[in-house]
Amino acid sequence: MSDEKKLWGGRFTGRANARFAAYNRSFGFDRALFLPDVRASRVHAEGLRAAGALTDAEAEQIQEGLNTLQWRSETESDFFDDDAAEDVHSFIEARLVALIGDAGRKLHAGRSRNDQVATALRLWLRDQIDAMEGNVIRAQRALLDLADAHREAVLPGYTHLQRAQPVMWAHWCLAYFEMLARDRERLRDVRCRTNVLPLGSAALAGTSYPIDREAVAHALGFDAVSRNSLDAVSDRDFCVEFAAAASLIMVHLSRLAEDVIVYATTEFGFIELGDAISTGSSLMPQKKNPDALELVRGKSARVFGHTLSLLTMLKGLPLAYNKDMQEDKEAVFDTAHTVHTSLEVMATVLRNIRLREERAREAAARGYMNATELADYLARKGLPFREAHEAVGRIVLAAIGRGLELHELPLEEMREFSPLVEADVYAALSLEQTLATKSQAGGTSPARVAEALAAARASLDG
Ligand code: ARG
Repeated sequence: MSDEKKLWGGRFTGRANARFAAYNRSFGFDRALFLPDVRASRVHAEGLRAAGALTDAEAEQIQEGLNTLQWRSETESDFFDDDAAEDVHSFIEARLVALIGDAGRKLHAGRSRNDQVATALRLWLRDQIDAMEGNVIRAQRALLDLADAHREAVLPGYTHLQRAQPVMWAHWCLAYFEMLARDRERLRDVRCRTNVLPLGSAALAGTSYPIDREAVAHALGFDAVSRNSLDAVSDRDFCVEFAAAASLIMVHLSRLAEDVIVYATTEFGFIELGDAISTGSSLMPQKKNPDALELVRGKSARVFGHTLSLLTMLKGLPLAYNKDMQEDKEAVFDTAHTVHTSLEVMATVLRNIRLREERAREAAARGYMNATELADYLARKGLPFREAHEAVGRIVLAAIGRGLELHELPLEEMREFSPLVEADVYAALSLEQTLATKSQAGGTSPARVAEALAAARASLDG
């Protein structure tokens, strides 16, 4: 744009310092808003025409000019090569004026870059949110397919990463499904507050042109128009909310990543990683590394960082627009990109791992994971649970000393700790029974898990 005029040149006699101009520029990244800004400009032109601020012919010229620019942006690889454009808004206006002349100069009536950028960013983010929900759903489907691939399988459950109680493999898959279900709700919630039209707020005070803002909102698919112009141009709450929702998605993906990484170690050995999602070592020929999962875990950091950047950028800003707010874009763009790609990679990982059912079942049957079962057994026979807990603790200690599992102890030995133990104890201590008794809503009994799996499927299909 060096040979074109700046949007705000009239008041100035001197030139901007080159380093400052480069520092000030956002076109390097906000060109991502090209299509939403063109779209909003089309609707704004129509609003101006309806308000009598543009003739039909001028409005027509603007529409055709914007169509041409859009077409060129899609077909000319060097279309965005412009070292001088300050931002995407001035770029579009300069290109339009170069194309159609005076009519292009009339398009900015009744708007400011302040309401323009807020509008374009909201349009852009709305699409991203919708696409992101689609990616979350794809990851959820991958989890359900992984559960279905091993329907009868069992896994040791952990607390403090110490063996705790056995759970169904599908129960583990569904735990992550639930987290992602909440993420979808959150995205939809953020969408509601994103989908409000700021255009018509102009710089900060509102516009004096009689533009029908409701009609503009309708044409752009917004659910409502902003109620206060000062707030509308300075509000980036929707960016923070998006980044926060995105952060929780990354929390969930990073926890899933960590579980799979741990389960894929030789020490655990429950999960086998497919070649498609693993890497080797340049030095150690035997290695198969879970890089895909480590990257998902690692990239969560940048999304959390963006959330904090956005909050910090907004903190203490005076009303209304301030240039600080230009910093919102890279944070939001990178957040969206990181979450999209992480969800895609995670879905791919889930389709390229396999549970080693035998090994997981063996592990689930050992390590005294039925100790709680024994305490419940004694409690059912009338012993207060606290006393039962104490007795079983002593039985476990004795069993460890003898190198046996609880169900491997002879009956007489168990009876030394409590005469309430009878021959039916072995059935109670079996893996099958341990699982089957967890039959209340939300529990891991095979019947409950089968129901939950079907309900989860239905929630996606419905
Ligand atoms: N590039 C600016 C941004 O991203 C656009 C708005 C500029 N408005 C202004 N009055 N300087 O925030």
